[in-house]
Amino acid sequence: MTPGHAPPEGSPPEGITTEDARRRRDFLRRLHRWFVTEGRHDLPWQRDRRAYAVWVSEIMLQQTTVDTVRRYYTPFMRRFPTVRSLARAELDEVLRVWSGLGYYRRAHHLHEAARRVVEHHGGRFPRTLEGLLELPGIGRSTAGAVLSLAYDRPAVVLDTNVRRVLERYWREALRRRGNAERALWELAAWLLPSSGGRSHTQGLMDLGALVCRPRSPLCPRCPLVKSCPGPREAVPRMRSARGTRRLVLLYRRDRHGRIFLVRRPAHGIWAGLWCLPERGEGPPGDTRPLLTRRHTLSHLELEIRLVTESPGSGRLPLAGVWTTGPMRERLAIPPVVREMLESLPPRVPGKT
Ligand code: ADE
Repeated sequence: MTPGHAPPEGSPPEGITTEDARRRRDFLRRLHRWFVTEGRHDLPWQRDRRAYAVWVSEIMLQQTTVDTVRRYYTPFMRRFPTVRSLARAELDEVLRVWSGLGYYRRAHHLHEAARRVVEHHGGRFPRTLEGLLELPGIGRSTAGAVLSLAYDRPAVVLDTNVRRVLERYWREALRRRGNAERALWELAAWLLPSSGGRSHTQGLMDLGALVCRPRSPLCPRCPLVKSCPGPREAVPRMRSARGTRRLVLLYRRDRHGRIFLVRRPAHGIWAGLWCLPERGEGPPGDTRPLLTRRHTLSHLELEIRLVTESPGSGRLPLAGVWTTGPMRERLAIPPVVREMLESLPPRVPGKT
């Protein structure tokens, strides 16, 4: 069976008992009823069911909270209302509109995938799991979200919220299958209703986000509480501590007031964005920073220092641009770096 597709009728995965089959019917009925009255029905991305719009929102939601995505989704869709408009845009423009959302690889993939949809599919989104999986940045779960939320098809979504609901409620059945990743996909596929793929997916996501929460689940409010073994996690998951990284950025201004910026590499922090050149660490305490900021990324704590001196030589990287204020308005610059540049006085005493 292909994960993401409903199994043929009457073929439950190995190890599923008749009692599980009864629990499945109960699970679907209760989940659906709960979703109708308690689920989320007015998120900004629920107003536009086109595959393009669903895809954009799902990519944004991959590593970002609903609250943050709310602020970015509508401006993005206003600027790029169709897959053709996104495909036509310059990557820089896409990165600029994306800047602040983080994980910039997603924006690179979005742009590349839009170009492929236009070039290879005449601007229409693929309607199959296989077709969607060929596009950069789309994995099985995101493909399942597009199929179910845009086309109302039964398709498996296994994001972190849905996983948690299934792992808790179906703990016993999954344990019998050795808690394998494959067993979870098969179970999720077996649970799919034959119609109503959209409300099934959204209902599972909403239950995970609103009730079956990671740390403080609201079991008394859960429609499945009577038949659920409870939220005890088989293996407690510890979030790994964030590391800290110091980033020393070189601030150079010429006598016309232009600032020197470089494009960051396509991988890593702020991938592909425009930024002050990064300077290697000099001897400790060699230069007093002009400004410092602490900035939290989801996986890393950054300590950013702006300095005006480059130890050894004053040479700048070749591949950079002297930028004026109006140019910087149009460039994709990490918001924290933009804020630092804007907080500097027009002239730094004693410097060019
Ligand atoms: N997380 C991932 N996809 C989502 C969606 N469509 N609605 C709410 N949260 C989500």
